[in-house]
Amino acid sequence: MVIIPYETHHTHVLYVNIFWMEKKFIVSDLKPGQTLFDEPFALSELEKKSSQQGKIYYNIGLSDKTGEIHGKIWSEALVNCDLNTKIGEIVKVTGSIQEYNGKTQIVVDKMSVTTEISPAEFLPVTTRDRSQMKEDLKNEIDKIKNQDYQKLLLAFWHDANYLDRYSNFPAAEYVHHAYVGGLLEHVWEMYQLSRAYKSIYPNLDWDLFFTGLFFHDIGKLEELDIVGAAIIRTNAGRLIAHIGQGILFIDRLISKTNSDFDSVSKDKLFHLILSHQGELEFGSPVRPQMVESLILSMVDANSASINQATKHIEKSIVSGEDFTEYHKWLGRSFYQKDYLPDATKDQ
Ligand SMILES: [Fe+2]
Ligand SMILES: [Fe+2]
Repeated sequence: MVIIPYETHHTHVLYVNIFWMEKKFIVSDLKPGQTLFDEPFALSELEKKSSQQGKIYYNIGLSDKTGEIHGKIWSEALVNCDLNTKIGEIVKVTGSIQEYNGKTQIVVDKMSVTTEISPAEFLPVTTRDRSQMKEDLKNEIDKIKNQDYQKLLLAFWHDANYLDRYSNFPAAEYVHHAYVGGLLEHVWEMYQLSRAYKSIYPNLDWDLFFTGLFFHDIGKLEELDIVGAAIIRTNAGRLIAHIGQGILFIDRLISKTNSDFDSVSKDKLFHLILSHQGELEFGSPVRPQMVESLILSMVDANSASINQATKHIEKSIVSGEDFTEYHKWLGRSFYQKDYLPDATKDQ
């Protein structure tokens, strides 16, 4: 029996890992012709449909850390499936892997919920070293000269619950860095990218910049949540979204920790958070109106787009085609023929 450490976003726990004893197939290796028997997956989609003849069937999505497979539960199999299962719960699936319209899909014959396996085992995780990324950010916090900004960063850093969530949260539900540790990785990438700007334009307010960078997506801690093996958007996240939640979060943290916080420094920090998506049509209520906020919005877009492109290629490279499928957010296909896997991995 293998025991592996796994960091959840609440506590650091040692799980007895029965995952590898139960699991015979991983999603990225599934091929047409395979038959699965009581194979565990996380449920990622379950949608009731009706055929033209009025027959009920379900679209289903099943996932593990290596990816997601979609498929069907046809009407004759419904009686053998637990259809009250919630997204993020672990299910054991019996069925077959088939090819449909050039895509690999699963046809489910039987599905039941299991609580024997930790859902955390099914979530994808960053491939970068989280301790190293945290150390790099902490070194930068220690160098900050503006006392208001440094106090704010340290108040956050020394709260074990905040730091735990910051290290484990994804940066998004689907779009980019959508895995455990994704938020930390995204912030770290932006920090690394910004170092080139700092060497070219040394006279900008880099204390403000780093504080804005560190906190720009802090609202994600309330916009998103990890439930079972699913990354979801909370109700507050839908209603307020992460930019608004980020401002509320920082405002609360400032009132709690430093009543003397300089009001101009606070306005500038809020400006960086509010404008980080760059354009009104991308969800920012103000456009960047400082060079620091302009650079922040650019490195944010860089990190997000490069992550989307590399993950898209990694997912599609098994197809053996020269180009990926169309990427709807980036609006293009990518040439993947000579792609070296794991381009985002820390060397
Ligand atoms: Fe954002
Ligand atoms: Fe971001």
